[in-house]
Amino acid sequence: MMAPHDDKSEVAEESMASQAPNRPISTIVFIIAMQTEALPIVNKFQLSEDPNSLFPKGVPWVRFHGTYKDLNINVISPGKDTVLGVDSVGTISASLVTYASIQALQPDLIINAGTAGGFKAKGACVGDVFLASELAFHDRRIPIPVFDLYGVGLRQASSTPNLLKDLNLKGGKLSTGDSLDMSPQDEASIIANDATLKDMEGAAVAYVADLLKVPAIFIKAVTDIVDGEKPTTEEFLQNLAAVTNALDVTVTQVVDYINGKCLSEL
Ligand code: ADE
Repeated sequence: MMAPHDDKSEVAEESMASQAPNRPISTIVFIIAMQTEALPIVNKFQLSEDPNSLFPKGVPWVRFHGTYKDLNINVISPGKDTVLGVDSVGTISASLVTYASIQALQPDLIINAGTAGGFKAKGACVGDVFLASELAFHDRRIPIPVFDLYGVGLRQASSTPNLLKDLNLKGGKLSTGDSLDMSPQDEASIIANDATLKDMEGAAVAYVADLLKVPAIFIKAVTDIVDGEKPTTEEFLQNLAAVTNALDVTVTQVVDYINGKCLSEL
């Protein structure tokens, strides 16, 4: 017999919703900036592109989705720049798609996955996959008291100590800016941020996730060594394909690990 839809069941539903950390994670949104980074994951989970985009007409943002085990998996990409046709990397597109995806999908967890530069002085090697613990910006310098801290924009990733340990991931801090290269001023800020990793989206995704109180984790695979000898652009392009495969392997392990678990178990 169906339970009557009375006051009691409504109260039960409400109290479940307010205990989100004790309910298994059900909907995941991946925010992935580059097509090369996204496609292996889309294929691995056999996700299909959503032709009736959730997003405003005309934007290049792309959604792939499907179910895998007990999870609704979404991969959201900012897509190709409408003027130039290249991947819409960087903080502006990342924050916009993160905001729009949270509004449309109300995910239990955001996962920002992608590539990053790594600092060998902090123990990073090409091909390593990190779970970032803290995120901050290195190109928002505002030398006025308190505005300086606003510029740095420090945010914490959701704490997932079991995930880090059980999957043997490396941990480290991530510094974000809108440039692939590194100016001396950026370098000083990255050092001040105590960062092991340098990317172009992480702190922007963290800002929006924190604003809307959605848990977020950051999986970053190292394509290039920033404090090494090789020019960044060359090293990045050379390693991109191989490193996105490493990223895909770890992302699959992370998804399998998350399946059936609550946030508090991660
Ligand atoms: N993504 C991959 N390598 C990077 C680097 N060196 N800086 C910023 N983003 C990156």
